Amino acid sequence: MKTLDDLIAEGVQDRFVLLRADFNVPLDGYTITDDGRIRAALPTITKLVGAGAKVLVMAHLGRPKDPEPLGRDRRASLSPVAARLGELLDQRVSLAEDVVGQSAHDVAGALMPGGIGLLANVRCEPRETGTPSERDALATELAELVPGGAFVSDGFGVVHREQASVYEIARKLPAYGGDLVARETEVLRRLTGDPARPYVVILGGSKVSDKLAVLTNLLPKVDTLLVGGAMCFTFLVAQGHDVGGSKLESDQIDTCRDLLGKYADTLVLPSDVVVASEFSADADTRTVSVSEIPEGWMGLDVGPETVSAFGSRLADAATVFWNGPMGVFEMAPFAAGTTGVAEAVADSPAFSVIGGGDSASAIRAAGLDEERFGHISTGGGASLEFLEGKELPGIAVLEEEA
Ligand code: 3PG
Repeated sequence: MKTLDDLIAEGVQDRFVLLRADFNVPLDGYTITDDGRIRAALPTITKLVGAGAKVLVMAHLGRPKDPEPLGRDRRASLSPVAARLGELLDQRVSLAEDVVGQSAHDVAGALMPGGIGLLANVRCEPRETGTPSERDALATELAELVPGGAFVSDGFGVVHREQASVYEIARKLPAYGGDLVARETEVLRRLTGDPARPYVVILGGSKVSDKLAVLTNLLPKVDTLLVGGAMCFTFLVAQGHDVGGSKLESDQIDTCRDLLGKYADTLVLPSDVVVASEFSADADTRTVSVSEIPEGWMGLDVGPETVSAFGSRLADAATVFWNGPMGVFEMAPFAAGTTGVAEAVADSPAFSVIGGGDSASAIRAAGLDEERFGHISTGGGASLEFLEGKELPGIAVLEEEA
């Protein structure tokens, strides 16, 4: 793909650059609880601003149920993002009230060299996720906002989506991969190529079904795969345990049993869990062996014995990939498993890659120094699909257009 440096070398002074970023940050009300994705976009933005480009940014926030432009759903508004981006850059970021309407044209038209504008949440425009012809029409209108401009794709977290602001737009304007996209793909290629061994993967999160493709793709390639999070209970049932009221995907038990049979030496399950009487931070809790989960109680975190066993595997690893929390880390009584595993990854001598989303937020929430990890990806779904060996449309289109 053509790179950001190629674009800068061509010259962007006084030229429009339409930039796709992933600013899909976690919010508590209207407060951003983890600005990691915004900070990850700064190197590309500052390069463009420093070279005198007029930078117009496209981003999404959440998945608005009834896409409506013009900010009728305040929860979908990018205003907290525009404010945080402005603070981090120490520069005003003007926010449009629509995606390709009059306000977007006004914001683009008012940009000075080195200035930054942000379009309204692109997911509030129904065509963003519409049919190919709807997406194509939207991409044409997006390109019309930036006459003579270029497109820079830097929202790594969204490159697995075939959407107008990620995919079709790359066919409408000269297209380049931003520094974040370049770094993320380079690191993930290290994992899919010939990783240093032992290669240990930790998978957590709630659903086995979400992780099945990555599980089946990685199991033949890794030395150890540690399973935590609610998805471990379906594996534990497949192993013959009674998991009480824990989350269970009954239709996945047979698949888990097959995987346990085939990869008995690779798959490692928790030996103890923290159980609660109900799904609440105020619930009664106990730490029990996986063979002693009381009837009606639900497992909401892995226990200390498991953290220590996982830690021993991580201490000997040369490459680590981690995706998905070990428990409901947003609630203090169930955060120790995720924090303990995060610390073990940080302590490990391995080259470690944290696969986006919740795991990255958990590391920052635990106050761990990001420098202690090899790479913290901004892409949850995107990094998993990369490791599944799938083609990512937002990357493929940049390579085709190069
Ligand atoms: C993410 O949060 O993983 C990315 O921003 C993509 O969001 P999406 O899953 O809503 O497409």
